[in-house]
Amino acid sequence: MPTVRATGAVRGGIGLAAERLGHGPAVMVTTASDHVALRTPTRPDHFSGNALHLHEPPTAVQPWLDRHRRTVGAIPGVDRAFVCWEVAGDLAGTDPPAAAPDDLPTDAGVELVSAMVWRPDLAERPTDRVAALAAVDARDPDDLDIRSGADDKVLSGSRALYLQAGWGTDVDYWRWHSAQQLDLVVARRCDIWVAYVMGIPASRVSLMHDRHSLAIVEDVITHPLHRGRGLASALVVHALRQHLADHPDHGIVIRADADGSARHLYERLGFATVATDVSISHPARP
Ligand SMILES: CC(C)(COP(=O)(O)OP(=O)(O)OC[C@H]1O[C@@H](n2cnc3c(N)ncnc32)[C@H](O)[C@@H]1OP(=O)(O)O)[C@@H](O)C(=O)NCCC(=O)NCCS
Repeated sequence: MPTVRATGAVRGGIGLAAERLGHGPAVMVTTASDHVALRTPTRPDHFSGNALHLHEPPTAVQPWLDRHRRTVGAIPGVDRAFVCWEVAGDLAGTDPPAAAPDDLPTDAGVELVSAMVWRPDLAERPTDRVAALAAVDARDPDDLDIRSGADDKVLSGSRALYLQAGWGTDVDYWRWHSAQQLDLVVARRCDIWVAYVMGIPASRVSLMHDRHSLAIVEDVITHPLHRGRGLASALVVHALRQHLADHPDHGIVIRADADGSARHLYERLGFATVATDVSISHPARP
């Protein structure tokens, strides 16, 4: 069993910090001494946007579920408690690293998400990182029709692809999510790229950053009919190349299900797992 301790540099973990970057301005983020609280009054069903991000692994989970209930969970309509923390290392394939497993309610959902950092970040000079992209094994993006920007074609293509991800088909929710993203685009904190095949949107990716040193690649989606042909790999490489051209020293993070298949794709592109985010979800009003 790996050591359970919080990741050092960013309190609460670099993966959780990056995850917060991906939320639009409708998510209110407040920092307390031992946790960060996220509240999204406009979308009580936005689970990851109505959450507590703990700075350290908890000694007991139940008090935090209660804390969520009394704070974030007080928003009308929030019916799931979401409590997350981050531990150093790769916990894929292991049991949930709860500090006190007996204290986890039996009906709690536990998810492990890998926080992966683009490995050339370890190179000392920023120019080395851009050069490293040339060595990545991915289809040549020049061969693809890739568009970005805030124009309607890109935004509607991106929105349509959310419905193909297997993350739910609530059109209203994805419309709201996409509007949040557009706000970040307008604030110059987000870029969206869509790859088209014969004029039809086939793959999308977005990249958010905090205007300082941290960026996250998010919501990599390829339409099921176009999977396994290198579209997602090419788009991620394209996004990294464009982002690093303007921000060569940004750290780049991607989050993936610890035991999901996308992790292998990201590893092939040069991302390495540095930490694991543990998320506990539970009915907010049992
Ligand atoms: C994960 C996802 C984005 C991958 O999209 P994709 O366009 O199929 O990705 P790629 O084609 O670039 O890579 C997928 C695999 O196909 C392989 N592949 C790439 N080009 C290929 C080609 N020309 N012929 C055959 N296989 C190829 C890749 O080697 C890769 O294998 P690997 O994962 O073992 O490295 C897609 O499956 C998806 O949308 N899933 C649902 C949403 C999701 O879970 N997103 C991830 C969030 S973390």
